[in-house]
Amino acid sequence: MPTPAECQSIFLTGFMGSGKTTLGKLAAAQLGLLFFDLDEEIVCRAHRSIAELFTDGELCFREHEHHILLQLLAETSNQPCLIALGGGTSTHPSNQLLIPPERQIYLDVPFQLLEQRLAACTHRPLARNRGELKRLHDERLPLYSRAKTTLALSPDDDLNRAAQKLTACLRELLYEEQG
Ligand code: S3P
Repeated sequence: MPTPAECQSIFLTGFMGSGKTTLGKLAAAQLGLLFFDLDEEIVCRAHRSIAELFTDGELCFREHEHHILLQLLAETSNQPCLIALGGGTSTHPSNQLLIPPERQIYLDVPFQLLEQRLAACTHRPLARNRGELKRLHDERLPLYSRAKTTLALSPDDDLNRAAQKLTACLRELLYEEQG
């Protein structure tokens, strides 16, 4: 298991609906980077959907999430990957220690747009309570803002443009490291 200082991967963070999975897949493909989505890893390895895992309570879900993040980091320690975190991964204090802020990109999408995207969403347990979304979002902002890199996306950024912006952002981070 690499120490956080040795970690080569880059992490996408941000609220539900910010595009971590969709944009992450596109940008990783552009750069030939391996891509992992933490939620997909959880579902595959736990053989249960996120909604099913939440029926045991959020704390229980967070423990699964933490252990699978640990496994994923151990398995990918020898290569730089792009990893899309869940919107609440950084709320677990142990995860905060695993994911260095210098390696995080925060996808900063205006709340109104997130709200619109989540309106049609049924598979995310925490998005079902519409009245709580703004509070949850604002409560998490300080965690997301720890990321060294923020990529601000607006309603004018269509999928293509947003993916291009993320690709450019990743390229910069990767080149910066190579000197
Ligand atoms: C969550 C976000 C989800 C998923 C779970 C909990 C959260 O991931 O991990 O439903 O607490 O914000 P996405 O951000 O990929 O939707």
